[in-house]
Amino acid sequence: MIKASKRRHFLSALTVYDYPMTRMLDELGIPMLLVGDSLGMVVLGYPDTTHVTMDDMLHHVKAAARANPKSCLVGDMPYQSYQSSEQAVRNARRLIDAGAHAVKLEGGQEIGAQIKAICSAGIPCVGHLGMLPQHILEEGTYRIKGRSGEEQQKLKDDAAFLDSLGIFAVVLELVEHSLTEEITRSVSYPTIGIGSGNGCDGQILVTHDLVGTFPWFRPKFVEPRLDAANLMKAAVKDWQNDWELLYAKRQTPSLD
Ligand code: KIV
Repeated sequence: MIKASKRRHFLSALTVYDYPMTRMLDELGIPMLLVGDSLGMVVLGYPDTTHVTMDDMLHHVKAAARANPKSCLVGDMPYQSYQSSEQAVRNARRLIDAGAHAVKLEGGQEIGAQIKAICSAGIPCVGHLGMLPQHILEEGTYRIKGRSGEEQQKLKDDAAFLDSLGIFAVVLELVEHSLTEEITRSVSYPTIGIGSGNGCDGQILVTHDLVGTFPWFRPKFVEPRLDAANLMKAAVKDWQNDWELLYAKRQTPSLD
């Protein structure tokens, strides 16, 4: 279904971290739901994804899987969970056993052996190229990739390499827009963009950014569709005011 969607229709994908969100988005028919390691920031309060552990991912994949989604549930492989082929296969299996239908890992040729091993073990695999959030400590900042000739060539080579491994979809994060289009035209898998323009086969967002449940930071490229944090605060304030009023009235001494 995901692979068949290439160039036929828009492929929407969103992140989920728990049972209710997975159930809601599955009911909407969103074809791909990612238990992303963005979990670290928007749910667990870490400054970046490098703090997320396998145990964190397993806990949240299990919660999402309890919604029994018809959508493809992808589990992100967290920081340093795929440093060798053996470790990659072992941890990918743990995510699958926890209820993910596929796994996602960040990188191209430099993690080729790990991706090959996961695919050979029969575990469906999603790639992730461009800005790789798990590399934030070396990179220092989140920035557009593919502006220099060298970066463009590396991205094109990595995209072709992932195609040769039979990966079934690739996330392109913060990739220069014209390069995104060129890669999308040249590969057989669907590309799913985030902050990479509209040249991909589909788009993915962190759901909290889309609906405004993490109001303290939102990437520039996201146009939120809801201000859930302020709506929730208003509802809570309303409830508190009503009860305060009621209690105040009770305490007002009667005149007769
Ligand atoms: O962890 C995540 O949410 C992701 C998406 C931003 C693609 O990897």
